[in-house]
Amino acid sequence: MDYKRILVTAALPYANGPVHIGHLAGCFLPSDIYVRYQRAQKRDVKFVCGSDEHGVPITIRAMKEGITPQQVVDKYHAIIKESFEQMGISFDIYSRTSNKTHHETAQSFFKKLYDDGVFEEKETEQYYDEEAKVFLADRYITGTCPVCGNENAYGDQCEKCGTSLSPEQLINPRSALSNAVPVKRVTKHWYFPLNKYEQWLNEWIVAGKKDEWKANVYGQCKSWIDSGLHPRAMTRDSNWGVPVPVEGAEGKVMYVWFDAPIGYISATKELTPMWSDYWQKEDTKLVHFIGKDNIVFHCIIFPAMLKAHGGYVLPDNVPANEFLNIEGDKVSTSRNWAVWVHEYIKDFPEQQDVLRYVLCANAPEAKDNDFTWKDFQDRTNNELVSVFGNFVNRAFVLMHKLCNGKVPKLHTDVMDEADNTLIAEIQKAKTAIETAIENYKFRDALYEVIDLARKGNKYMQDKEPWIVAKSLAETPDNQKLIDNCLHVCLQLTANLAILANPFLPFTAKKMCGMMKVVDRMLEWENVGKMNLLNVGYPLKAPELLFRKIEDDEIKAQVEKLHANLVKNTNEQKMQQNATNEATTLPEQKTEITIDDFAKIDLRAGTILHAEKVEKADKLLKLEIDLGYEKRTVLSGIAMHFTPEEIIGKRVTVVANLAPRKMRGIESKGMILMAQNEEGKLIFVSPLDAAMNGSEVK
Ligand code: 2FM
Ligand code: ZN
Repeated sequence: MDYKRILVTAALPYANGPVHIGHLAGCFLPSDIYVRYQRAQKRDVKFVCGSDEHGVPITIRAMKEGITPQQVVDKYHAIIKESFEQMGISFDIYSRTSNKTHHETAQSFFKKLYDDGVFEEKETEQYYDEEAKVFLADRYITGTCPVCGNENAYGDQCEKCGTSLSPEQLINPRSALSNAVPVKRVTKHWYFPLNKYEQWLNEWIVAGKKDEWKANVYGQCKSWIDSGLHPRAMTRDSNWGVPVPVEGAEGKVMYVWFDAPIGYISATKELTPMWSDYWQKEDTKLVHFIGKDNIVFHCIIFPAMLKAHGGYVLPDNVPANEFLNIEGDKVSTSRNWAVWVHEYIKDFPEQQDVLRYVLCANAPEAKDNDFTWKDFQDRTNNELVSVFGNFVNRAFVLMHKLCNGKVPKLHTDVMDEADNTLIAEIQKAKTAIETAIENYKFRDALYEVIDLARKGNKYMQDKEPWIVAKSLAETPDNQKLIDNCLHVCLQLTANLAILANPFLPFTAKKMCGMMKVVDRMLEWENVGKMNLLNVGYPLKAPELLFRKIEDDEIKAQVEKLHANLVKNTNEQKMQQNATNEATTLPEQKTEITIDDFAKIDLRAGTILHAEKVEKADKLLKLEIDLGYEKRTVLSGIAMHFTPEEIIGKRVTVVANLAPRKMRGIESKGMILMAQNEEGKLIFVSPLDAAMNGSEVK
């Protein structure tokens, strides 16, 4: 299909807290790169987003902070919006779902489905918290996941295995508000009959989108459809949300996942009076950028809603990223294990592109990935500073030194193969970047940009204009060779600015300033041109595009992460103690028999030797004396201990754990660790007298 316009949406973040870098890497950065590229292509594109201000996360936060939900969303909407602006996420509109336009849009959407008889009205028994005196929305109920046994699954989804659940499926349900065991009460709700759309979804996705959608997205959809779809309640008993606009629905609001995606439509309405072109004309390409936990809502439920309403376009693609872990651990906002965007901006002023670079180069496109501060430093110093920044800087410095500060001429009579090859590389990179971006492979695209700069560096290194300059007195004609080299390098610099612009917009702008060209030069059609800078045109002195990240900056960030984690757990503990004894009960695993336990071969041991593992920040390689043999065990404790301080420690070893290879080293076993009051790791040591190798039973 030849599309006339593109509508790009990025998942509306819940306004119940600030955004962290996992959010950026998940959907905001890729969508921004995509949109900036489309804009540079001069395509008709709109980019919409806003805060998701309804639903349980907001009400829970309000309860925790002792303020109203409106106060919560006002506070976080402002913080989130500012973080996006500062990171250069270039939404055409960043709206919010508590506003009037959205309430009206969502209500009229609901009303249309209601009037068309789409909903099924059902009275059911639902969980009610007699202590808090409220019906418990799905997220307010926690319990054990029937699929994977996670004891902290929510009533709508198990975040551990991703299964979508209903509260009835939870084993041992509890109220998240009071920890009371909830009771059943009758209440009426409106259900969307997803089952009636199963066949249509099957044709549209399973038969239709197989080769277009990313494997993770397609796979999740297929397994949903294969396991059968069921009617889903689209209303809730609550006073926070979009009121249900039908008679007999007092005290009911829309389910947040009903109103939130309609937020994309409301935001487009606020943005342009032509909004319906973007939503209702078939030649619109609608692309939803999301994180993997949102797949079912964007690929199954929202499309079915749009189909039921009629007259709307359906998403052409739903590129979903996996999760970004931090220093090896899953992001946890409640444990404060996260790198917050507003804090990054404070700690690293003017370094937005550096973060954009690292998050894109290491984006969790196909699998969960890990962000480490060391990798942040390495990529910045070894790629942005040494390759990209260095190339541009050398081109400018040499042009000032060897060509009077002006763009030199290209002397075609002395052009050689190296010149032509490098020029051809620009064209190749252009095609590769286009293909990658159009296919949502942003890491590959960014790699091509850096690789082109790398080729520029190599070209300059091979040509050595600074050496050629030494023989100018004897061979004045050599100036032609110098001119050619710098002409090509400067035109390549201009091309690099265009190619880097979607990823590194602040840098591209800075480069335009140095080259004294207007922003229009950054239009995509200019890539490949070798006359972007006019011959004889004086250019400015170079500015440093990137600065090195020092060791102590990285160390400070890692320390900050750990310090905040401890502080937060203590705070939480105090809060919990004050409010409810019962909530301090530890998570308990499912019961096992003595035979299950007997399968584990626990042994007393002593650490004989410990050392760091190259390129694995978290791992220590331990040699452990088990009495009857010495074992190599890799343990993820390098962030907590130096090798020196643990030599000689007594440890309890799981001796019959299947061997596992990490970083080329085979680990045979595992050591047991626990946590002390401050959250610091401590060894589970056998009593001193226990002999190495003796069984722990
Ligand atoms: O998962 C989330 O953060 C949701 N607030 C995303 C909503 S996306 C859309 F449907 F609005
Ligand atoms: Zn589960």
